[in-house]
Amino acid sequence: MDRETLIARRRRLLGDAPLFYDEPLHIVRGEGVWLYAADGRRYLDCYNNVPHVGHCHPRVVEALTRQAATLNVHTRYLHETILDYSERLLETLHESLSKVMYVCTGSEANDQALRIARHASGGRGIICTNLTYHGNTAAVDAISPLFYGRVTPHPDVRTIPYPDSYRPRDGLAGAALTEAYLAEVAAAIESFAQAGVPFAGLIVCSIFANEGLPDVPPGFMERASALVRAAGGLVIADEVQAGFGRTGQMWGYELMGFTPDIVTMGKPMGNGHPVAAVVARGELIDAFRRDVMYFNTFGGNPVSCAVAAAVLDVMEDEGLIEHARVTGDYVRERLGELAARDERIGDIRGHGLWIGVELVHDRGSREPATDLTRRVVNTMKERGILMNRIGEFDNVLKMRPPMPFAREHADLVVDALDEVLRAL
Ligand SMILES: Cc1ncc(COP(=O)(O)O)c(C=O)c1O
Repeated sequence: MDRETLIARRRRLLGDAPLFYDEPLHIVRGEGVWLYAADGRRYLDCYNNVPHVGHCHPRVVEALTRQAATLNVHTRYLHETILDYSERLLETLHESLSKVMYVCTGSEANDQALRIARHASGGRGIICTNLTYHGNTAAVDAISPLFYGRVTPHPDVRTIPYPDSYRPRDGLAGAALTEAYLAEVAAAIESFAQAGVPFAGLIVCSIFANEGLPDVPPGFMERASALVRAAGGLVIADEVQAGFGRTGQMWGYELMGFTPDIVTMGKPMGNGHPVAAVVARGELIDAFRRDVMYFNTFGGNPVSCAVAAAVLDVMEDEGLIEHARVTGDYVRERLGELAARDERIGDIRGHGLWIGVELVHDRGSREPATDLTRRVVNTMKERGILMNRIGEFDNVLKMRPPMPFAREHADLVVDALDEVLRAL
């Protein structure tokens, strides 16, 4: 079926559901870091983080089909898969994070994290950044200003400016910049006190991915966590995008130097299969379970846990965390060569295979080159390379390819980007 017919059918059946690219792509097959379109063209996937260990990885597919052909049922029966997986997962986290609850999406995980934080603290007030996205349930939508504008619409929510060293608050740098952002956290806590809203905690994506992967001023998260706890709140690390080794470390909070009370995860966890989780300090989950009957029909079912275990197997056997660190550094090094001759590359950021490239009109003014970024994304797609854009001004090229992305793929991307930038 041709593209125009598919677009019309979608609109009729799904309403105005969002699509990527000026000319949307009709994908029919995936393998490793490659996606294949209906017209036979192949695209290098530099964008999709959910197929974490590669599109349709045979070991994940095999684990899924084997378990699906044996048993799939909810978790109110005894079964080993959920226990075996939980032991392996918890081993990767800080020792204080010792119990897990399973859900199906990142949104649900964050919703559940809010419930646990509010239950444990006895408060309601949640702080998030002004440009974040944590998901789509009613509670989580209230802490997702990325899609509702830059204001605080909910009385139980305060937003703080996301910490950023490229467009820093008041032009500050180093320790003074850290202090400025910490003052925002303190002001939000104070504002809850003034409004008579008891404080429950802070939620952040550990690496501020939806904010455009900013370089976070030194020590910010560790000290923000201390402020939150001193006020009786809990710290929630949303690892839905950051987690599972893409940064070169298993968890983004390790990279950022803080220890959360609650961690949420999803997206890459099941390589595309909908499995997600909330991990927290054991006593928080014990207390919550004591008071609240919580059950999730699909969360943690044997198929989900078999799939999630296969993802960990592949990550280990293929050394993907170290691979992400080394390959990501190589990509940034090669991008640095482009930046040396192109003033419009304002900043190159990220960790491991999380890569952000901020495009500006010129490096001096740092004026965002939003339209150029849109054209780069679309032209790269025409050249067979998929990426997207993010950030306050939609001027940060966002790359987070499946983890098997290798040096040869990096060279294809950087060489194509070089040519595209020269032409635009
Ligand atoms: C940081 C973060 N948290 C949570 C979510 C929501 O996850 P899901 O779409 O699985 O509900 C997203 C989705 O983009 C996300 O980026």
